[in-house]
Amino acid sequence: MKNRIILFYLIGLAAVLQAADLTIQAGRPGKAISPDLVGVFFEDLNYAADGGLYAELIQNRSFEYSPTMQRDWHPLRFWELEKRGGGDGHIGVADMRPIHPDNPTYALLTVLDPGDGVGLSNGGFDCIPIKAGERYNASFWAYQAYMGRMWGHGDNSKPMRVTLRLETRDGEVLADASFKIKGRTWTRFSAALVPPRTVNDARLVLLAHDKGGICLDMISLFPEKTFRNRPNGLRADLAQAIADIRPKFIRFPGGCLVHGQGIRQYYDWKHSVGPVEQRCSGRNLWGYDQTRGFGYYEFFQYCEDIGAEPLPVVPAGVCCQHAGSSPGRGQEGLPLDEMPSYIQDVLDLIEWANGLADSKWGAVRAAAGHPEPFDLKYLGVGNEDAITPVFRERFSMIYEILKKKHPEIVVIGTVGPFAGGEDYDNGWAFARELKLEIVDEHYYMPPQWFWDNLMRYDSYPRGAPTVYVGEYAAHDQGRRNTLRSALAEAAGLTGFERNGDVVLFASYAPLLSRRGHTQWHPDMIYFDSTNVTLSANYYVQQLFGQNGGDRALEFELDAPEAARLAASTVLDSKTGDIIVKIVNGDDTARDIHIRLEGLDSDSEMKAIRTVLTGPDADAVNEDGKDPVVRPEASGVSAGPDFACNVPANSLIIYRIER
Ligand code: AHR
Repeated sequence: MKNRIILFYLIGLAAVLQAADLTIQAGRPGKAISPDLVGVFFEDLNYAADGGLYAELIQNRSFEYSPTMQRDWHPLRFWELEKRGGGDGHIGVADMRPIHPDNPTYALLTVLDPGDGVGLSNGGFDCIPIKAGERYNASFWAYQAYMGRMWGHGDNSKPMRVTLRLETRDGEVLADASFKIKGRTWTRFSAALVPPRTVNDARLVLLAHDKGGICLDMISLFPEKTFRNRPNGLRADLAQAIADIRPKFIRFPGGCLVHGQGIRQYYDWKHSVGPVEQRCSGRNLWGYDQTRGFGYYEFFQYCEDIGAEPLPVVPAGVCCQHAGSSPGRGQEGLPLDEMPSYIQDVLDLIEWANGLADSKWGAVRAAAGHPEPFDLKYLGVGNEDAITPVFRERFSMIYEILKKKHPEIVVIGTVGPFAGGEDYDNGWAFARELKLEIVDEHYYMPPQWFWDNLMRYDSYPRGAPTVYVGEYAAHDQGRRNTLRSALAEAAGLTGFERNGDVVLFASYAPLLSRRGHTQWHPDMIYFDSTNVTLSANYYVQQLFGQNGGDRALEFELDAPEAARLAASTVLDSKTGDIIVKIVNGDDTARDIHIRLEGLDSDSEMKAIRTVLTGPDADAVNEDGKDPVVRPEASGVSAGPDFACNVPANSLIIYRIER
């Protein structure tokens, strides 16, 4: 027994490796760096928008699902016919008199015998969670097709009586409202439903109570408590988790989703603004329906709500090089005679965002509730495109007109999908030729790559083009969200921050993923209908997002060669705080002696010390359990000369008040 204790003691001693020294030039101004380094990248994959951040609880609300999205999808998918108390009838699909040409399909409900009601029900995205005492805004659009029997055998002056209910799976009514549908004009009906108890798998049920037919579309249910209580708003817990990163910008709407899987299949921003019932939903590149209810307006509004710059991305006039089931060979350009009208759409986007409320597109924004311009500053053009002659020609056309008409907008170009290689080289050469201000680099690489490339940006030429690392993530074995992967990203971020004069922005990818609908691993935030799981990778983003600076202070890290250590030291001029970040990627703790040189006084300073670590490098935060990797903060005093024990596999941040 005694021997075992001695052995443990010796192992304990060996567990702290040779010390290191970190000397920071705290009295010198350091170099100016981007104060906006950490942002987020939102793309609707993994059900990130519909069934995710967008708070709509009804799936296929406008009957637009089709087999082009998924083999067994059709306009009535996720809807069930309800026949209550001897009722009889059926539901059909129609497109003759749509609410709007961009929302072509709707349901025709035929009641043959009303019984206790005939109608349809929807169980949402996997389920509909509702909370006791909270208000849910239910609505639908309808018009009366006929009463009694079709072909005039009824009295069309009578309305169709309809009820809308929240029910349990067993049919217990939790809340309901009644309506009378009359006339042939599409009309919106709405009511607030307040369930008396919490139910995690409710259904929304619409029942008609008279013989006849009504047309129905846009059957919708929103919690009133969306993020900032915005109508047509965002799911509060997810929107808050993103806001807690304090992102300085949001890139939207993708990713590959932007340029699409075939020519003219791109994300058309005009389809995503205006009244929701007039928006054009459709298959997105990730193979499911995108209502565009979370569209450009909601995106800009959200950016404004959380103080992030909007960074929209438009296609460069080409589709994805993997489009049309032709990996690597599918890139096609819009015909050149279509480019002027396409470019006009891009100019219209700028007018929509920044134009006065009485301009053509500014008026669309104003009508949605935002008369003041949004002050758009950045625009991404292209995403991971192969840098071909077809691409170059179209990109140049867009860029030249943008520069002429909107020199105030910073255009962000693309340098292909990888950290190096042909498209990267050609993209950079092209960007230099055009004198672009910023280019967008992407890389998904193993954790070791991030450690091997800590100095990547040290040797990048200074001046334009600068870099936006628009998509990156460390892909560990099994593509799991391990602490190892998160720390590799943290190490990468120290390199971005140290080189914040050339790396202006960075965003982890992808951001959101609904359990059961995950198409891409790893992601930053996982969720189901009611729960949110924050990964280790999320916490890295949050800690860097909350602890950014605007000046990089010079430092020297004197550590044994084999040490997996990375650091960056910045000043936040607004608060005067010095922020020291150290990443230890070793399986053993390390003592680091930190010296702040050049300070006026040598007295102790107050600091917040935050440590992000976990049981080991393989640790992963699991759904429904307390996170094993999460930051812990404590108040400490940090002298100009102090010792710090950096735990094994950790990110440690000192925020030192001066
Ligand atoms: O982030 C997921 C995808 O990865 C993006 O859509 C694309 O840009 C990249 O290839």
